[in-house]
Amino acid sequence: MRTSRSVAPLLAAALALSALTGTSPPAHAAAPDISVANVQAHLSQLQSIATANGGNRGTGKPGYLASVNYVKGKLQAAGFTTTTQSFSTSAGTSYNLIAELPGGDPDSVVMMGAHLDSVANGAGINDNGSGSAGVLEAALAYAAGGLTPRNTIRVGFWGAEELGLLGSKHYMNTLPTSEKNKIELYLNYDMIGSTNPGYFVYDDNPVGNTARDDLTAWYTAKGIPWEYIDVQGRSDHAAFRTYGIATSGIFSGAEARKTTAQAQKWGGTANAAFDPCYHASCDTTSNINVTALDRGADLIGHMLWLYAAKDLGGGTPPPTGGNLLGNPGFESGATVWTGTSGPITANTGRPARTGSWKLWLGGNGSSSTETVSQSVAVPSSATTATLSFWLRTDTAETGATAYDTMRAQVVDGGAVTTLATYSNVGTNATYTQKTFDLTAYRGRTVTVRFTMTEDPSLQTSFVVDDTAVTVS
Ligand code: PHE
Ligand code: ZN
Ligand code: ZN
Ligand code: CA
Repeated sequence: MRTSRSVAPLLAAALALSALTGTSPPAHAAAPDISVANVQAHLSQLQSIATANGGNRGTGKPGYLASVNYVKGKLQAAGFTTTTQSFSTSAGTSYNLIAELPGGDPDSVVMMGAHLDSVANGAGINDNGSGSAGVLEAALAYAAGGLTPRNTIRVGFWGAEELGLLGSKHYMNTLPTSEKNKIELYLNYDMIGSTNPGYFVYDDNPVGNTARDDLTAWYTAKGIPWEYIDVQGRSDHAAFRTYGIATSGIFSGAEARKTTAQAQKWGGTANAAFDPCYHASCDTTSNINVTALDRGADLIGHMLWLYAAKDLGGGTPPPTGGNLLGNPGFESGATVWTGTSGPITANTGRPARTGSWKLWLGGNGSSSTETVSQSVAVPSSATTATLSFWLRTDTAETGATAYDTMRAQVVDGGAVTTLATYSNVGTNATYTQKTFDLTAYRGRTVTVRFTMTEDPSLQTSFVVDDTAVTVS
């Protein structure tokens, strides 16, 4: 049994002091520095496990189960309750390790996780020993602090991520709906110590997502430049996000190359991969940037302390009434939307429906193609789902031939569905609301896309504002 009383005298002293000085005590304790030496010690253990087991910690190989047992032993000794969940894969049996700290509100769960498997041909120390070790050390430090969390802290170490996110999918697929609805947040840590590091924050799920903003605020406060990244479901947060749970995470980069601009702000080598040993046999303990690892571990700790104590409203199911789209009226510029730069504008050449920003597609009077999109997880728990937006069109074209067109589309994996096509024929300069049924996409993460093509002459303007995906 974990004791949670050891800080009581300290707390009493702090309260007495605050009464004397007239200041109020902090709402929650700040996270301590997470020891990067301890994180590195976990990485050395994972390296030794790989070395002793044919050089890898891959699914179905003995190095994976040895990794699970190492992490499990540490967590149990610190007072976590652990569960090992097995599932089968084409490469053999794999395991998720789930650890929970007793004491928090059972109806309000905050989760963090990391995949613990490597690819078959290497030790996987950056991918993803780094995230695993950072999560493990932050969890051990939290337990050692003796705080009583407001929310239940649950930690997931996922198996078979490298075979297609199998462990996290299995966890969510087998978790009862009532339990899924207790999860307020999932934070994912997959690769935090890349040798040519970037500092990326997942922003593929921005809706009502204070965690994403807390991650970026930490970097900003430390003076560390950061960038959003749309990780496109490439890691274990995807199963949570698809269900409608708020997710975010950090990432120091994999096979993609660092640009010149990124090298200027982050240092390191331009035009080289963030992790030159990504999925390679050289992903060993030599393949770690200790500064990136240290920062990542501290940020994992910061988020753990913050969300352990945060009032999250307790056991609230995924949103049912609100708008699932981020920056829906474009008032934050291009935030959350991706695609052609330029059409999201405050240019007064066309009016916004509300505010001053809108999506002004076309209006060029020259050959052009413009596409702007945003992905959205349509909760499987919804009864109905609806896309709506307001559209205003005008043109210099005449006649009944469609020269310039704009399509509203839904992209589900590779499948593109055009919901409506608008053109220079039948324009309407009064904003009109358009609505479409997205019920068929429940349980899917889809992309809502506006795409426009204009022919060489005579402009047509398609102006979109106040978009929404709502569920009931
Ligand atoms: N999930 C990828 C892997 O393990 C790494 C990755 C994480 C890539 C996040 C992109 C974004 O190989
Ligand atoms: Zn990974
Ligand atoms: Zn990988
Ligand atoms: Ca607007």
